[in-house]
Amino acid sequence: MLEAILPFARTLLRNAVKAGDIAVDATAGNGHDTLFLAELTGSEGRVYSFDIQEEAIENTRERLKKHHVEERVVLLRQGHETVREAVPEIYHSRVKGAIFNLGYLPGGDKSIVTRPDTTIRAIEGLIDIMAPGGVIVLVIYHGHEEGKTERDKLLAYVSRLDQKLVHVLRYEFINQKNDPPFIIAIEKR
Ligand SMILES: C[S@@+](CC[C@H](N)C(=O)[O-])C[C@H]1O[C@@H](n2cnc3c(N)ncnc32)[C@H](O)[C@@H]1O
Repeated sequence: MLEAILPFARTLLRNAVKAGDIAVDATAGNGHDTLFLAELTGSEGRVYSFDIQEEAIENTRERLKKHHVEERVVLLRQGHETVREAVPEIYHSRVKGAIFNLGYLPGGDKSIVTRPDTTIRAIEGLIDIMAPGGVIVLVIYHGHEEGKTERDKLLAYVSRLDQKLVHVLRYEFINQKNDPPFIIAIEKR
């Protein structure tokens, strides 16, 4: 009955992102979320997808090609902290959803991880440019050491966000072993 973490992340995005909207995959990785968002935005919308690793950009490009949706996506080999500049201003009020899958690239170099300072800069940029009702979904992986630091810094940051500006939700199974991932969702009011 209770939706698991990754399906719930998708439910939130599905509720927020409709055909013709703009969406952001802040951590492209192997491209699963970019593909999912491209299916939601349709051919009239756009997905801006970021990753700092060439391997991730290439894996994502391949996945999009296989599903014939590569023209819906702008793939950027740069940090998500540049989101405000990277998404053209004319699209700003059409950004309805963003996803961050934090941590390291599955099957890739585990020393390259997301970092709290850049993650927070990206969230700030997204809150600024997003349309009211837009949702930012963060999937927090805190099994590794840097993940614990990122979790603590992010929780401190999001719990101080002004409730007149955003609603912040934490969705987490609290009796599972081995630090399972959990969600923070930020909805712009
Ligand atoms: C957990 S993986 C993402 C998994 C992905 N959602 C998928 O479907 O496979 C995290 C990714 O974030 C990327 N990353 C790390 N720092 C980043 C930054 N500042 N901006 C964008 N991507 C970053 C890593 O290179 C890695 O590929």
